[in-house]
Amino acid sequence: MSRFFIVLLAISFSFLCSSSSAIQIDYDANAVIIDGQRRIILSGAIHYPRSTPQMWPDLIQKAKNGGLDAIETYIFWNVHEPRRREYDFTGNLDFVKFFQLIQQAGLYGILRIGPYACAEWTYGGFPVWLHNIPGIEFRTNNEIYKNEMQIFTTKIVNLCKEAKLFASQGGPIILAQIENEYGNIMGPYGGAGVAYMNWCAEMAIAQNIGVPWIMCQQDNAPRSVINTCNGYYCDSFNPNNPKSPKMWTENWIGWFKKWGERDPHRTAEDTAFAVARFFQRGGVLQNYYMYHGGTNFGLTAGGPLITTSYDYDAPLDEYGNLNQPKWGHLKQLHAALKLGEKIITNGVQTTKNLGNGVDLTTYTNNATGERFCYLSNIDGSKDANIDLQQEGKYFVPAWSVSILEGCNKEIYNTAKVNVQTSIMVKKPLTATASWSWTPEIMKDTLHGKGNFTASKLLDQKQASSESSDYLWYTTSFNINAKTKNAILSVNSSGEVLHAYVNKKLIGDQMGNTFQFQKPISLKHPKNTITLLSVTVGLQNYGSFFDVQPNGISGGPVKLIDAKTNATLLDLSSNLWTYKIGLNGEAKRLFDPNSKKAKGHAWFTTKQVPKGRPMTWYKTSFKVPQYTDPVVVDLQGMGKGHAWVNGNSLGRFWLTQIADLNGCSATCDYRGGYSANKCVSNCGNPSQRWYHVPRSFLNNGDNTLVLFEEFGGDPSNVSFQTITVGTVCGNAYEGSTLELSCQGGSKIMGIEFASFGDHHELCGSFSKGSSEAINTLSIVQKVCVGKGICSIEVSDKTFGGNNATSSDRRLAVQAVCS
Ligand code: GAL
Repeated sequence: MSRFFIVLLAISFSFLCSSSSAIQIDYDANAVIIDGQRRIILSGAIHYPRSTPQMWPDLIQKAKNGGLDAIETYIFWNVHEPRRREYDFTGNLDFVKFFQLIQQAGLYGILRIGPYACAEWTYGGFPVWLHNIPGIEFRTNNEIYKNEMQIFTTKIVNLCKEAKLFASQGGPIILAQIENEYGNIMGPYGGAGVAYMNWCAEMAIAQNIGVPWIMCQQDNAPRSVINTCNGYYCDSFNPNNPKSPKMWTENWIGWFKKWGERDPHRTAEDTAFAVARFFQRGGVLQNYYMYHGGTNFGLTAGGPLITTSYDYDAPLDEYGNLNQPKWGHLKQLHAALKLGEKIITNGVQTTKNLGNGVDLTTYTNNATGERFCYLSNIDGSKDANIDLQQEGKYFVPAWSVSILEGCNKEIYNTAKVNVQTSIMVKKPLTATASWSWTPEIMKDTLHGKGNFTASKLLDQKQASSESSDYLWYTTSFNINAKTKNAILSVNSSGEVLHAYVNKKLIGDQMGNTFQFQKPISLKHPKNTITLLSVTVGLQNYGSFFDVQPNGISGGPVKLIDAKTNATLLDLSSNLWTYKIGLNGEAKRLFDPNSKKAKGHAWFTTKQVPKGRPMTWYKTSFKVPQYTDPVVVDLQGMGKGHAWVNGNSLGRFWLTQIADLNGCSATCDYRGGYSANKCVSNCGNPSQRWYHVPRSFLNNGDNTLVLFEEFGGDPSNVSFQTITVGTVCGNAYEGSTLELSCQGGSKIMGIEFASFGDHHELCGSFSKGSSEAINTLSIVQKVCVGKGICSIEVSDKTFGGNNATSSDRRLAVQAVCS
């Protein structure tokens, strides 16, 4: 072939690649315009490192089945660049693969580079080495910071470009975000903050990615980017540029949890209400934060004190199960919203106030005459009966939105849930049999051996890195013969302190910032004090959060006279030896393949020690290959870290007990949501079960290793699977009730079935005053023995009945096994 032809072929190939597959992303105030199609976009957040690559296809498929158009994720700088200019994009950090899977599923992607993420991720996603660059100031007009931010942003953009991930290259990514909620905290940064924010926008635009950039919670964003809203409700938000579409980047579908807190829940009804109101009032793009929350593996949990579970009460639970009724109720909402997509993105909107909090919004496509309506009732307690004359009569419950196709037919109401509620159960799988154990070797540390010394009390971030929660501070000093007793006083910025005097543990304390004080006896002349400081997730939010101190930063550490309170000795400027991390961590005792741990003596005593601080435990177990997700129940343990086959399950902390009060079996969806509104798990450990992703397990022997910091008892630790136990349906006449089990189990029995005006509460249904006869036998016939069944809720199904109420529903409670 001649050179000319080769060149011609190459040119036409590259032309084909770029032009035939490029997807044009435009927007105006009423639509995101994808290749000329006017769209509303329904999106959900799934953070790739909070699950495993083996889970991704299923999570993405469930998001698609749930009616989403797009999946959104942050990029997490500190895990990708753990040491400066050393990058990691392998395993569950392979975000390119994550977006490729999104595209393969036929969905769009939203890329939130940040690179500040927040996200309850340790240090908001910033690497700790960044903090330690001399002269750096984060998130402001500081050249050193801006340079690092630009280098990382460019790195991510280039990886996306190489993999052709942007829609402009034919890829899935339709939007990208720079910074994150800077507008919320920028005040204290003054003019430098404004300059930085403008620089962020310019730097992002210069990346030339061919899709729009967004900035969330940034009212003064330059017009080159779209400012968007985050919150529980964003219906009253309007972008600062009238030409920009109204976008909601974070619809908080629940909330995160801290150690010691109860489980937050946001109802399906209230979430649906917020979404429907948003689209009623001109919304164009909405993203659930989170659609799947997942797990904070390793030390990625932010903080301080964010739990390992990041379940978030999302439509897909921590393990990837459908969280019902939320997933299904929102799926039906999405289908209803999509029916109006063409009309609301091409239409003219008018809203009529019908009084008492009721609004009727009509979208009319003037070209075709088609109409689509939202009838909302924002009163927190009063239901409304609305007569729209020839367009029909509607019952609109308090705090709900009805979607009216053609403005005369209700196809959805946010408060009328017609999908099943699933009650999840844990089934015993494998109990752990025999344990071996080994103490954390501390002799060298307590003797003052370390990595380096300094004549001051360093901030833990400065001295350490995020690779370990643990930092040892050791100092020695001489006293005169007269001083036998004193009080050791240590000021810590958190979160846990273990104090040793002359190699003996004398006490512990925990808190955000606290003063530890304990009487001690001293020796003559030489004494050694060792302070083990433990962080539990670095701060991830707020102005200047990055410079908040950690550990025994600056102290002071003093010896005080017990009688007079006078300072006997201020040790703060003594020579301190620092040791980063535990010896067991350095040896990788948690990893069955660790070369350094080979030959390490694990004890197999008859009685495994209980309540022993600073102890490693190990056991092996087998797991049958079912498909339901696996958890380990760490009941009996204190605080520490768990690993299966060398993979971190994250921190555990069973002694953090949730508040005894404030939980109730029912939850009123009406009225504004707050994280304290509908909580559960009162009086129990904040987190007792820890996710063991299936991909961490193998068919043969598996190894569980626990590091226990305070003292625990591993004898009750066991493995369980999580699956659907009971399903309840409570569907209105005219709908179809679908019931399904999970993981191969089937409906084994119907505990309750009634078509009438029963009273609803899954787990304790009670019959009402009128109901159809034979409901139970009809439902039994349709459902028993099946993994999934569906029943039309109508007179046709339950024909010739004596259920007379106008508000008739079918209630079913079934058991899966
Ligand atoms: C937002 C933030 C998110 C996440 C959320 C709470 O302020 O942008 O990253 O932290 O709050 O879950």
